[in-house]
Amino acid sequence: MKFPENFLWGGAIAANQAEGAYNIGGKGLSVQDVTRKGWQEEPQEYPTEDNLKLKGIDFYHRYKEDIKLFAEMGFKVFRLSISWPRIFPNGDENTPNEEGLRFYDEVFDECLKYGIEPLVTLSHYETPLHLTREYDGWKNRQLIDFFEKYVEVVFKRYKDKVKYWLTFNEINSITHVPFLSGGINTPKSELSHEDIYQAIHHELVASARAVKKCHELIPNAQIGCMILGVPIYPLTPNPHDVWEALETERQNYYFSDIQVRGYYPSYTKRFFKENNIQLNITEQDKEDLKHTVDFVSFSYYMSACASSDPTIESGKGNIIGGVPNPYLESSEWGWQIDSLGLRIYLNELYDRYQKPVFIVENGLGAVDELVTLDDGTKTVIDDYRINYMNDHLVQVSEAIEDGVEVMGYTSWGCIDLVSFTTAEIRKRYGFIYVDRNDDGSGSMQRYKKKSFDWYKQVIATNGKSL
Ligand code: BG6
Repeated sequence: MKFPENFLWGGAIAANQAEGAYNIGGKGLSVQDVTRKGWQEEPQEYPTEDNLKLKGIDFYHRYKEDIKLFAEMGFKVFRLSISWPRIFPNGDENTPNEEGLRFYDEVFDECLKYGIEPLVTLSHYETPLHLTREYDGWKNRQLIDFFEKYVEVVFKRYKDKVKYWLTFNEINSITHVPFLSGGINTPKSELSHEDIYQAIHHELVASARAVKKCHELIPNAQIGCMILGVPIYPLTPNPHDVWEALETERQNYYFSDIQVRGYYPSYTKRFFKENNIQLNITEQDKEDLKHTVDFVSFSYYMSACASSDPTIESGKGNIIGGVPNPYLESSEWGWQIDSLGLRIYLNELYDRYQKPVFIVENGLGAVDELVTLDDGTKTVIDDYRINYMNDHLVQVSEAIEDGVEVMGYTSWGCIDLVSFTTAEIRKRYGFIYVDRNDDGSGSMQRYKKKSFDWYKQVIATNGKSL
């Protein structure tokens, strides 16, 4: 298996799914704090006890122990997000929360102590709740300025500690989950196409302004976009299915096309016309959009199919579902497992953009059983996870052989955390088991799974053990 010497091996988490401490250290509420178990696009008025994210896996207090375990696996990079309301509790203040800034200083120092590069997502589904309730989130143009102020503060503060940045996590999810992704308070059923695409425009301008600021303030840093990656195959060779697949892919490429090229692609003209969308795009917006990303990052869990037959129903998936593929198996949550799809997608992205690509999420959500070995050690024998990741990493190395410039790989949920789409913890991704259960019980103790040593070996051999 061929991986470049400087390949960035590591793992990824997000603040809202791991930190807990939702009301500690001066943090304000985020959209995540008013969700609960189950599908989360139905916010509560206030945080309620059944929301596992309020305590997460208590990374806020246990980050030293966790980063030490990542270092033991040999991580070169650790992807995490900064919780925006930890820095600006309401999002519209002028002065940041020093205690929040100090927390991330300490986390980054802990990473650097072990030679681990932090890869920081500026916004991972964590819009301050105040901006949602008072401004209707990204529907409102004012959020561009609030976001710019926030990113300027963190770029200045962490310029000597963080070299890799991402703007919005899975920016293309906003059309599916406008509350969590776009912080939009208006119910989805009441949003027009124009509302959604105007909100997307605001995020794209904010992303481009963050790129500009990052390049000005930290010239040696690299900043990328982050896409929810789902390659779409036509269900059959029927040209109508092929066209359907192309159109479905464009709904996702729409975002990175703008973030990588710096302007709206020509196919948007017809799409806007047919959907009655008239966007407010200023001359300054057009200038801002020219600040394009340095690399393209994405999450990858599954592929899906598209069909022109409206009677064929969509299956389950990572926010963006799709017509099930009869050739593929599914995870316990119905996400279709397709390791070759990762090679296909890497090639497609590189052919389209000729920019370095970074896989910043991949992994298998599964129910794990904690067992006690003869010597008393507690562990999880997660061969299913090892097989899944091995297959996917083999395809990454194939893509590298194909000529794709792959910067690195951060597996999702390298330590168990609260899931995003269903907000439960029994859906586990980690190399490290966290003793916490869906009813909120558990000691929060950490245990190494079998995959821990497997990944350690993969990193130590730079992929040769795959
Ligand atoms: C991505 C998100 O959609 O997929 C993560 O960026 C999320 O935040 C991951 O956790 C897996 O989804 P889930 O629902 O299994 O946690």
